[in-house]
Parts: sequence; structure tokens; C-alpha cells
Amino acid sequence: MENSSDNHIRIFDTTLRDGEQSPGATMTLEEKIQVAELLDDMGVDIIEAGFPIASNGDFDAVSAVAERSNNSIIAGLARAISDDIARAGEAVKKARQGRIHTFVSTSPIHLEHQMHKSEEEVLEIIRKTVTQARNLIDDVEWSGMDATRTPLEFLCRCCDVAIKSGATTINIPDTVGYSTPKEFGNLIKNLMNRVTGSEKVIFSTHCHNDLGLAVANSLAGIEAGARQIECTINGLGERAGNAALEEVVMAIKTRADLLPYNMNIDSTMILRASKLVSAVTAFPVQYNKAIVGKNAFAHESGIHQDGMLKNSNTYEIMSPESIGLKESTLVMGKHSGRHAFKEKLAELGYILGDNAFQDAFERFKSLADKKKSVYDEDIMAVVDDGIASSSDRLKLKNLSVVAGTEGPQKAEITLEIDGVLTTNISTGDGPVDAIFNSIKALFPHKALLPLYQVQAVTAGTDAQAEVSVRLEEEGTSATGRSADTDTLVASARAYLNALNKLLAKAEKEKNKN
Ligand code: KIV
Ligand code: ZN
Repeated sequence: MENSSDNHIRIFDTTLRDGEQSPGATMTLEEKIQVAELLDDMGVDIIEAGFPIASNGDFDAVSAVAERSNNSIIAGLARAISDDIARAGEAVKKARQGRIHTFVSTSPIHLEHQMHKSEEEVLEIIRKTVTQARNLIDDVEWSGMDATRTPLEFLCRCCDVAIKSGATTINIPDTVGYSTPKEFGNLIKNLMNRVTGSEKVIFSTHCHNDLGLAVANSLAGIEAGARQIECTINGLGERAGNAALEEVVMAIKTRADLLPYNMNIDSTMILRASKLVSAVTAFPVQYNKAIVGKNAFAHESGIHQDGMLKNSNTYEIMSPESIGLKESTLVMGKHSGRHAFKEKLAELGYILGDNAFQDAFERFKSLADKKKSVYDEDIMAVVDDGIASSSDRLKLKNLSVVAGTEGPQKAEITLEIDGVLTTNISTGDGPVDAIFNSIKALFPHKALLPLYQVQAVTAGTDAQAEVSVRLEEEGTSATGRSADTDTLVASARAYLNALNKLLAKAEKEKNKN
């Protein structure tokens, strides 16, 4: 039985919070702002921008996203602790509409082994913390962590207290990804039927994907009456991740006959969001991933291709255009001017400020000098490149490499470090190792390299290589990116991009203390 009267599904994106909790998926402040602006433009109803008490960086990110929000509600996460709630309230203060999202564990296993609290104590915590949040802000979401492993009776009492204390959204997380669609749908239905005041609030799903059921469980949740789905771009998130936004949205859109709900999402922005999140986190998208994988709209077998040529409905349940995938078009060459470039960017959905535009245009020109055919994907890589900033301490001035069957490979590199030019020649086990050794010789540092990744932007031997490098030092990590037709140049730049970010973070921390 569905006891929710409206048909609007609120899309709550938690890429910047739960998604960022994926090991290694850290984003810089600028990257978080970039992702949030895209989500806001795309029609995401609520953006969970971070966990303000977790660090000063998280607090700054939530405040910066809040300040810039045009349409979306901006949420900050808080444990059921007074300081957390105050900090979250402070962080979302400048949003057009802010939300405090507070959570506490409810399952016996969490209560006994993690919290060492009785059920009565947890109910009192909920009463106190939700009341505190509601005194700070009108929009309060309460979550019962590990709800799907919580006895129904107790979960009903928790929801009851949360609603009485002022919660406006009740979120039911399948924290460990343990539930199944039928079970999860029944849980939502039972809660909505039994909890006093449930008709006054929005019930929400937050499903993890440990059994690959996150999207199915979320859809079962809305069929049972939930009206908010918590999800992330590319399904990023703790362990196996969260329900993927793109899958939830396209399932509802494509199967409107069975799922007759409305959403605010402009689905043609999905591919861009996927690419941006993949680029800033350096988490590649699986080739056969539903909706946004490279092969999601590729038809390989002869019989499928034949059908597609006759009528695309034969093997296509949604159009590539509906997620923003267009036939890759030849863009322009080295004679293309500023105006054409601006138009192309707008067509691809990029609206850049003056400085960012100038920077992207120069990089496009230098790419067009090297590469005969510049495609949409090339332009996107140019814009999403790890932008070198004038405040970078280390800049690449020159690189030459000797590689081949006879090792050791050798790199000669000239860097400008704090305004001074310096050169080094190093060898290595392969040219990339030689380049990184050379950088280390010029600028000694202890950062470890947990990730080095190369992907071709387009087909062809003159394709740009998009390189991601993650560096980690004393618990802080930074991901650098660069794209170039020369894989080794892109590798050097991506490494320097990551190193400059690490140095900037360290400097910021030092200035705070
Ligand atoms: O998975 C979970 O339980 C969470 C809560 C903080 C909502 O992410
Ligand atoms: Zn979660």
C-alpha cells in the first residue's frame, strides 16, 4: 500500500559525502565545487556536500557549496553529537535552503559492540539531537544507521521520536547492503503504516550495493511510498558503493509505465556528471557499467547492428542522447577561433569564467597544433584537466626521455621550482619511473604513489592520454590529472599537479596552526 500522496521523487546526491568516503576518492575544494555546480544545474534536489565536523576541509567545502547553491538544498552530515550538529548547522547556513542530516545507529549489533548503549538511551539521544538540529534549521533529516538490521518494533519507536522531535525527512539506510527488494519495500511500507506522524514527513532510501541490489532496493522503496532516494554518481561510496544516480534516474524515466514518478533531473547531463566524477576521483567507470559505461550503447554483434540500422528500438530501450551521449563529432582544428570554441563548450554544457575560458582555449590551441582531429572528448579532457595554477610551486618547463628495449630508461627534466629553473637527469625502470625519479631528485619528498592510471581519451594512435596520479603523505592524499597526446608529458604533468596540490594542502594546514 502506498500512503504517500505526491509523485515527486527527490534525488538526494551524496557523491561528495558517502562517495568521497570511498578509499582514495578524495576531492579538492575546487573539485567539490565543480561537481556540486554540475549537480545543482542538473536538478538534483538535495546535495549532501560533506561531513562538516570531520575536518576543516570538509567544513569549508560544505560552506562553499552552500554559498554557491542556486536550486538544490545543501545538506551537511552530523553524528548524534551536539558539536557535530552545531558545526553542520554553521556550514549550511549560507545555503538558499540548508539541511542538517543527523544519524545514529539503531541495530542491536551496533548498539552492543560499537555504541555500548541501551535502546532507551538511543531514543533519548534521538530526542535531544533532532530537537537541537530543529532549533537551528527547519529542514532536518534523521537516519537510523543499519536500519535494515534493526527490529521493526524498535525502528518504529526511533522514527516516532525523530518525527516528534522535528525531523522532516526519515532516512532508512541499508548501511551494509544486506537487504533485498521485497524485504526493503516491506520495511518502508510497515514504517509508513505504523509510525505516528509518518504522513507529515518524507521517507527516504539509502541503499548500499554490497549484494549489487542498491538500485533495486531503492526502487522497491519508492514503490512502497518513499519519496527520496539517496544515491551517488557512478555508484561511488563506501565499499561496493551506493545506489547509482544514473541508474535510478534512467530506470524511472525508461519504465515510466511501471514507475510513474516525476523527478527534477535533466538526464542529458548524466554523462558529463559521470565523466567529471570519474576524472576528479580517478575512479574509472567499468566499461559495461549500466547507463554510463563506454559500452552501454555500443552494439557489437552483427544481428544487433542490423536491427539498429533498421530501427533503433529493436535493441535500444533508451536513446544515447537522453543521457547526453552524442555522436562523437569532429570539432575544429587549429584555425578555430575563440567564438567557435566558446560555442562548442556551451554545446558540451560548459560555461566557464573568463580566466578558466582563456586557460582552456590556450590548451585547446596547443592540442590542435599537435593533433589533426580534435573531438568532443578531447575538448572535455582539455577543460577537465588538472588545471595548473599560477600559485603552483613546481612547473614543468622541459622534458625529454630516452626509452626503448635497452634500459635503463632515462629522463631529463627541467622544472621551475619557486621561480628558479633547475634540471636533472635520472634513470628508472621504464620511462615513467625515470620521470618520477627525476622529479623526486629535483624536489625531494616522501609521498607514496598509490595510483598511476592511463586512459586513452579517443580512439587512434594520436589520441590524448589522460593520466591520473594519486600521491599520499602522512594521511593526506591528492589526485593530479593531465591529458596530452604524449603519455609521458601527461604523466609528468599529472604527477606535478598532484604534488602541487599536496604542497598547497600542507601550506594551508600550517597557516591554520
Ligand atoms: O550508510 C549509512 O548508514 C550512512 C548514514 C550516515 C546515512 O551513510
Ligand atoms: Zn551510506
